[in-house]
Amino acid sequence: MGLLDGKVAIITGSGAGIGKQHAIALAKEGAKLVVNDLGGARDGSGTSTKVADTVVAEIKKMGGQAVANYDSVATIQGATNIVKTAKDAFGRLDILVNNAGILRDKTLLKMSEDEWDIVIAVHLKGTFAMSQAAARFLKEQGQGGRIINTTSIAGLMGNFGQTNYSAAKGGIYSMTKTDAMELEKAGVTVNAVAPIAYTRLTEDLPMFAGQEKDLAPEHISPVVVFLASDLSKGITGKIFGVQGRKIYQFYMKMTDGVTKSDGMWTPKEIQDNINKILAE
Ligand code: NAI
Repeated sequence: MGLLDGKVAIITGSGAGIGKQHAIALAKEGAKLVVNDLGGARDGSGTSTKVADTVVAEIKKMGGQAVANYDSVATIQGATNIVKTAKDAFGRLDILVNNAGILRDKTLLKMSEDEWDIVIAVHLKGTFAMSQAAARFLKEQGQGGRIINTTSIAGLMGNFGQTNYSAAKGGIYSMTKTDAMELEKAGVTVNAVAPIAYTRLTEDLPMFAGQEKDLAPEHISPVVVFLASDLSKGITGKIFGVQGRKIYQFYMKMTDGVTKSDGMWTPKEIQDNINKILAE
């Protein structure tokens, strides 16, 4: 008996890295899978059917069920096709894991319009497009469901040289909160993971040197299996940080602040109270 027996899952960008490990972990728990991957380079250029096909073959070899899809998540048409692949192959959908991603790192001062647009398209629009297509189907199906997004510490705390990526991932944080509220009535939970893992996206970063094992991408997948399964019933709108063996929660905080007893604040009074306003 698996935790996900009889369930159908789409995992975007599951031909490599973290997504591939999610696909294998969900398949081991009995889920039938749509392995979506455009098969491009780390910067989103190019396409190939090979990566998705390889993961499908691996899952079938394990005795699981999987089909490949090579559409880009970055368009409504692509997202519609990916959801249709689940419908056509397995007749239903239960779980969507929004994981596909690329990098085009540049500082604010150096970033081109193309570098901004493509990163926003794959991460932010892709998560929107997939969530909308899947949520419409889940609502129609009437049996609830699970959406698991992928944000990043860069989006939650900022990161030097990643204006485009941090904006997209910050947007995915907000989308997770809002979609969790909007889909509650339909019984669909929406959560997110903020992973830290050794993959082709991070292998050249000094902080990841020598951490291939400790930060192996498979460490992220148990949280995704938990969120995809009935074990996470009632948990929605949460952001799970995962780094190797450590799991934690990210959440937004509001300080107690200061309320003026009467009238409007003057800028000088704000300066005088700045430590109380910012006190954490
Ligand atoms: P990866 O590059 O190994 O895997 C990403 C996969 O997404 C690739 O196989 C790629 O072909 C696919 N993909 C890219 N654009 C696509 C598109 N338009 N449509 C469909 N598939 C597409 O990267 P990794 O590290 O596994 O990243 C997975 C997710 O985790 C990404 O969203 C990334 O931003 C996020 N993340 C990763 C971190 C890490 O430490 N590796 C840190 C924080 C977030």
